Amino acid sequence: MKLWEGRFDKPTATDADAFNESLSFDCKLYKADITASVAHATMLGKCGILAQEEADTIVAGLKGILADIESGALEMKGAEDIHSFVENELVARVGQVGKKLHTARSRNDQVATDMRLYVRESIDRAERSILNLVETLYSLAHEGIKYLMPGFTHLRKAQPINCAQYFNAYTEMFLRDLDRFVQCRERLNVMPLGSAALAGTSYPIDREITRELLGFDSVSQNSLDAVSDRDFVAEYLFCASLTMAHLSRLCEDTILYTSEEFGYWEIPDEYSTGSSIMPQKKNPDIPELVRGKAGRVFGHLSAILTTIKGLPLAYNKDLQEDKEAFFDAEKQVLSCLNIYAALMKKITFNVDRMFRAAGEGFSTATDVADYLARKGVPFRDAHAITGKIVRYCLENGKTLTTLTLDEFRAVSEHFDKDILACVTTRSSAEARNSVGGSSQSAARKGLISIRRRLKKY
Ligand code: ARG
Repeated sequence: MKLWEGRFDKPTATDADAFNESLSFDCKLYKADITASVAHATMLGKCGILAQEEADTIVAGLKGILADIESGALEMKGAEDIHSFVENELVARVGQVGKKLHTARSRNDQVATDMRLYVRESIDRAERSILNLVETLYSLAHEGIKYLMPGFTHLRKAQPINCAQYFNAYTEMFLRDLDRFVQCRERLNVMPLGSAALAGTSYPIDREITRELLGFDSVSQNSLDAVSDRDFVAEYLFCASLTMAHLSRLCEDTILYTSEEFGYWEIPDEYSTGSSIMPQKKNPDIPELVRGKAGRVFGHLSAILTTIKGLPLAYNKDLQEDKEAFFDAEKQVLSCLNIYAALMKKITFNVDRMFRAAGEGFSTATDVADYLARKGVPFRDAHAITGKIVRYCLENGKTLTTLTLDEFRAVSEHFDKDILACVTTRSSAEARNSVGGSSQSAARKGLISIRRRLKKY
């Protein structure tokens, strides 16, 4: 039965029904919908809008429906949306009194409330998954603090870095993502229920009762805004998008670092794939898929913004489009975070290869310039002198570590014997001891700082 059929002479066409329906996807909201309805009926009873026994009957009926859905005994089908489904089922179970549940409410404030309840739980799930990944990166950093690897800019070897510093960089990104989800949850936790269709209600409801029962921090202050506000969906999608962007960068690094050309890490067999034609291949399908799915999540963010931007106040059916976008984004972001944490837990380091690579490509040239600058040569001149040394090495098949002191001195008399210890891979990384830098002690402090910030979760 439709909730609104009284006004119509003829039933809706089958294709119109199929096009309009949302039960096939908003059935995911069943728990939120029933929880909000239980709170609403309880409030109606307490406020004397329904007799107490009427409210009790409705609440008992709703709880029975929830239990039956969860046990699989009740299949969600045959209604326009989850709200209609629950109400129809309630009336079928408790009789006429079930029809009183919708007093002082509309599907507009109902769906806005349901979505907030659902997204609130989704945020909790996202936070747990991010934390799991952060813990994984933390252990990799912990292991990697002994190791050096190349640091890149423009994907050209730049300076040697500590492996822990590398993983801490991603942890910093994911900690910001975590913070953003926390803040999104705070802003989301405002209750629209009681706004009714758009203008509020003439019944003497007490929104504080429902607010308290549903765990919202406050009640919405404008009914027109409350029924049409989907900022929280857009915000979730933005948080999810940025998380996916960070994850996608980590995937890109993984794909590069595990390639034959780089060979710094190894993805374990359990998380690799092969080729149907080339027997030798070990492919990084999982990182590639995660990188690909980032685009899909960004698409959902773009879709919701586009849906919202042209809507006249207040509720419009376009808003139903928030759901599939949201549900898909949630599924993608959680599965990507989880699979990536599992994969990263199992990667192994090719320590020697990373170390060798860290020293290649004149990656300690900045240390030569810094050395000269410490001896009083203006940095710009020190840079030019070092450039000449690099050119000399290139022309003579040398590296900064195979140059003799005489060769250094031939370019500048400011060089002393201590330059030779200055250009090694280890001393270069260790020299950058500034806060957040590549020295082992800076990386260790980075880990301590991360631990401290993790405590609040
Ligand atoms: N399925 C609808 C949605 O998701 C529920 C609200 C329907 N409200 C209405 N006035 N038709 O937005």
